[in-house]
Amino acid sequence: MNYFIANWKANKNVHEAIEWHRTFSERLQREHSILELLRNNSIEIIICPPLPYLFFTKQFIKDFPNIYTGVQNISSFTSGSFTGEVSAYMLKGSVNYAIIGHSERRIKMNEDEEMISAKMKALSEANIKTILCVRDENDTLYESAFMVAFEPVSAIGSGHNFQPADVIEVKKKLSLQPGQPFLYGGSANAQNTQDYMNTNQVDGFLVGTASQHPDDFIELILKSF
Ligand code: PGA
Repeated sequence: MNYFIANWKANKNVHEAIEWHRTFSERLQREHSILELLRNNSIEIIICPPLPYLFFTKQFIKDFPNIYTGVQNISSFTSGSFTGEVSAYMLKGSVNYAIIGHSERRIKMNEDEEMISAKMKALSEANIKTILCVRDENDTLYESAFMVAFEPVSAIGSGHNFQPADVIEVKKKLSLQPGQPFLYGGSANAQNTQDYMNTNQVDGFLVGTASQHPDDFIELILKSF
């Protein structure tokens, strides 16, 4: 199984988000090779919109096989008097995945391992699968992470993707669980994903910039095979 994850980050107003979905759905209906990959369980597409758009994202994808939703963050608190927080308990049954430990949150929002470990626990109690992001082999890995995305900070949003051979070197240093999917993220785009796929060591991509426009995201999937 290969995973293609769209991380919109804090982009798009509600109109732009609806437009993304309209364009994505229309184009996907014509992309028979991708539909076939989805149908025969070769790929999963996971769309992680900003939280306010989660429920209409679900509506837009509901007729496609193997397309799921994810949130970009979750509270480290389970539930209760935490004004403004959205907990895993609240989203149980409504979302399939959560991105945890993204370097933008670690660095800009001062998320530490204690918070990340509390989030991991809350998500596992809520049966939400985790996409755990690590910056290098020094970030903590969790057995309960459904998948691990290696995202070197210098490659994120910079246009300078980490070379596949270097990604494999880092993968060797990570203590992944047997069968735990390993993803790459950091300036992944339609021009470079096939190089990673050719190594047979990378199970998919966490995509920021190249998921902002549905055509770029669809091209990335097409060119990966
Ligand atoms: P990028 O972002 O594709 O724009 O580098 C990836 C990410 O931050 O998940």
